[in-house]
Amino acid sequence: MCGIFCYLNYLTPQTKKYILDTLLQGLKRMEYRGYDSAGLAVDRCCGDKSTVIVRERGKVASLEKLVNVSQELNMDEVCNIHCGIAHTRWATHGEPAPRNSHPHRSDANNTFVVIHNGIVTNYMAIKNFLVEKGYTDFESETDTEVVAKLALYIYNENPSTTFQELVETLIGMIDGAFAFLFKSNKFPDQVIATRRGSPLIVAIKADVEMLTEYFPILYSSDRTSSSGVNRNEIPSPSGHSGGDLPNGTTNINGRISPGTAMTASAGSGEFKLGGKTPVEYFFASDASAVIEHTNKVIYLEDNDIAHVDNAGGLHIMRTKKKHANEKDFRSVNTLQLKLEEIMKGSYNYFMEKEIFEQPESVVNTMRGRLNFETGQVVLGGLVEHLDDIKRSRRLIMIACGTSFHSALATRQILEELSQLPVMVELASDFMDRHTPIFRDDVCFFISQSGETADSLLALRYCKKRGALCVGVTNTVGSSISRETSCGVHINAGPEIGVASTKAYTSQIISLLMFALLISADRISMMERRKAIISELEKLPKKIEKVLELAEDLKKLAEQYQKENSFLIMGRGYNYATCLEGALKIKEITYMHSEGIMTGELKHGPLALVEATMPIIMIAVRDSVYVNCQNALQQVISRGGKPILICEEGDEEIVRLATDKDGNCKLAQVIRVPKTVDCLAGVLTVIPLQLISLYVAVRNGLNVDCPRNLAKSVTVE
Ligand code: M6R
Repeated sequence: MCGIFCYLNYLTPQTKKYILDTLLQGLKRMEYRGYDSAGLAVDRCCGDKSTVIVRERGKVASLEKLVNVSQELNMDEVCNIHCGIAHTRWATHGEPAPRNSHPHRSDANNTFVVIHNGIVTNYMAIKNFLVEKGYTDFESETDTEVVAKLALYIYNENPSTTFQELVETLIGMIDGAFAFLFKSNKFPDQVIATRRGSPLIVAIKADVEMLTEYFPILYSSDRTSSSGVNRNEIPSPSGHSGGDLPNGTTNINGRISPGTAMTASAGSGEFKLGGKTPVEYFFASDASAVIEHTNKVIYLEDNDIAHVDNAGGLHIMRTKKKHANEKDFRSVNTLQLKLEEIMKGSYNYFMEKEIFEQPESVVNTMRGRLNFETGQVVLGGLVEHLDDIKRSRRLIMIACGTSFHSALATRQILEELSQLPVMVELASDFMDRHTPIFRDDVCFFISQSGETADSLLALRYCKKRGALCVGVTNTVGSSISRETSCGVHINAGPEIGVASTKAYTSQIISLLMFALLISADRISMMERRKAIISELEKLPKKIEKVLELAEDLKKLAEQYQKENSFLIMGRGYNYATCLEGALKIKEITYMHSEGIMTGELKHGPLALVEATMPIIMIAVRDSVYVNCQNALQQVISRGGKPILICEEGDEEIVRLATDKDGNCKLAQVIRVPKTVDCLAGVLTVIPLQLISLYVAVRNGLNVDCPRNLAKSVTVE
């Protein structure tokens, strides 16, 4: 997914080399999001504020090479005030190529340059409009380029328009999802950022003490815009008017004139930035890009427009209040994330590090929430809504990909302990079906990133219908965590590898803790709850034991690395493990892989079984153990030679797979410690995570950024 980064140094002298390195480093920190090209825009020099754009296909390292040989940039020049923007692109419109990379420009003079994360859905209408007006010099196949040209059009229509008015008018003409950054040589040393549906943060580094934790919002009036341009000029195919702008024109009123320090209206005390005070601003798609510079961060909300003016002041604006109790400030948050937490440490890959972190990450998920001695569970984020949840008609778990699998992995225990019907829904399908939702439904949105577009759309859909919406995310400040009424932070620590691993196991633990919480006063469940809690305490040690299998699994990966396909079979609690294991294998190794419910074997999949087909079967001694034994025999009798994942000490199942002459029909046996049924999936998934990692490594594939995939899927 695209990554956005900006560095603006105000009265903070920096060499051009430092500025460029900061921009490139910011992009590198977001590499895990997935991208196929990169670019940046900086001033030519202090005395000449025209913009230089550098763009390249491929990795940030390729862009860096190009930057280093650029004849247009003087690396030693010191800039007292400067604004640079940078971008990693994940292609949606137009192939990965320098011409389609961001920043995009309005014209040959680079008057306005823009970077964008998201999709402009009415870009064709805007393009036709601009072409009619004589703006014909389009250079790319992207939806973003129209935005840069539209900015120039609005400016040309009224050159006395301010930067804020211009952007406000512009986003009122756009349909779709976006985070934008604008830079212009008409408004030197300034930047404007705005978002609708795509994440964007502002980070502030200043030596002055911030006396307030709140930053006021300035509202524009509905009076005629001095930009002089009307949204109605662009036909809207969707009939949806962009953002919260009324159809028509608007202007910014009540804005603070350049050079004036801001006074917080909603917080306590004063918040002075800019003027004579040096300050550095960073804008980014996520916190990992800014944390090495500062931990003071503002999360922008949809339709916020953040402007750093040429006096170094930061202004956050909105068109109008939607409702009376809408917050009229943005909090300045202090990030707790440490840089080391997002670095690879001694591991070669983030995915590897994250798999091996699981003994610790599951502890972090439970820390301070589960008392192993008393059995008490406290989920602070749910306290106020617990009674509503208990009274609900049904629990609906909505998610995508791995997060969906974590819901599937816990459905049975949630049904058992809550005694409520539990539905598990893929967010996209849930929306496609226009699923009926009622006021007494409780909808859970499970998402590592908290930014997944389909899950976010489903959240807004359920919220509109009056359901209680609960977030289960790994990202504080993410859209899902902000837009839900309450929730659980899974606390797994930053997950950088595109393939989700530790977030999956922490999601399972979080949902299981919720099941324990909701059943806390049911006498009939006491023994069951006790058994689960006791196993949760032992879980980190058991995960460590599974991780000790790493060397054996490396050898196994060597044996199977050239295969084209993998079938993973199981049932009950381990069906989710099969789906999740198959997802890991396909996304990291590019092999075809399928998770199969063994109850379905005879209904079709058995036809795939033969001696050469790689198969992994999971069977633990739970309530479906006998069914799993039957499935194993069916597979073996069709000539299959499966790898078996079973419990330590289970000789019975190995005997079953051994013929009367003592020949074992299993390709390999992987033994994991025994645990309670609803936790087995946390242990059985780890060998599959490791197999996919080692096969991918042996095949020389990019483990952390698999082709065509992004960490955070912020478009539908
Ligand atoms: O951030 P989310 O958990 O909402 O992401 C949902 C899926 O895109 C994600 O789980 C994806 O399936 C994994 N990267 C696969 O490993």
